[in-house]
Amino acid sequence: MRTVAIIPAAGKGKRLKTQIPKQFIKYKGKPVLAYTLEVFQKCPLIDEIVVAAEKSYLKKIRQIAEKYKIRKLINIVEGGKERQDSVYKALLSLDLGKSDLVAVHDAARPLLPMEILTEGLKTAKKKRSGVVAIKAKDTLVKGEKMIDAYVHRDDVWYVQTPQIFRYTDLLYAMELAYRDHFRGTDESSLVKRAGYPVHLVEGSLLNFKITTADDLDLFTRLISAQ
Ligand code: CTP
Ligand code: MG
Repeated sequence: MRTVAIIPAAGKGKRLKTQIPKQFIKYKGKPVLAYTLEVFQKCPLIDEIVVAAEKSYLKKIRQIAEKYKIRKLINIVEGGKERQDSVYKALLSLDLGKSDLVAVHDAARPLLPMEILTEGLKTAKKKRSGVVAIKAKDTLVKGEKMIDAYVHRDDVWYVQTPQIFRYTDLLYAMELAYRDHFRGTDESSLVKRAGYPVHLVEGSLLNFKITTADDLDLFTRLISAQ
């Protein structure tokens, strides 16, 4: 059984409004993407890594892989219009069997704790899928400017990555989504609608996605504190 990590890194980071996409922002001289890739390089349960990136950044990624010794990086594919397209392109570049696993993880989540990756992989191996998510803790409400209703919190989760599936399940789910012109914000929504079970794995707040300026601030503070 092989396990390949797919790292979508072809986004433009429009919500952050920095000059370069967030995955290439350096902190302490090291790009966000390098922090992310190192977790997968160090995890003994990961065999290979594929990154999806914009054409103009392909060389940059090769340099990052060289500098940070990301020896498991086997391929860099050109990304697509949306995240889903980038993941699909990376998936198509692989030649895997039925029981092989793919672990999709956002380049913009650099602080994934190793134990969570391990737990996700173990769950997927045992149960066919493993999707990292955190339980809602705050009170959840619906409404525009005033509260209309309260959402029952006990079974509400915030879904993160990594999202781990059997290669053939994700491929089928993505092909089905394209056939139906369905767009999801993550892989789990595609796999679920294809009829496969999606198992949740408890994640961590540390595994936040750098999306806005606040997140970048949090990332730099956490790294400085290390
Ligand atoms: N991503 C990708 N291909 C795209 C869009 C996004 O590979 N066409 C990647 C991003 O690089 C990121 C991950 O998917 O690592 C999660 O996406 P998101 O946080 O939305 O990043 P961006 O799309 O870059 O940011 P924004 O939506 O603010 O533009
Ligand atoms: Mg985006």
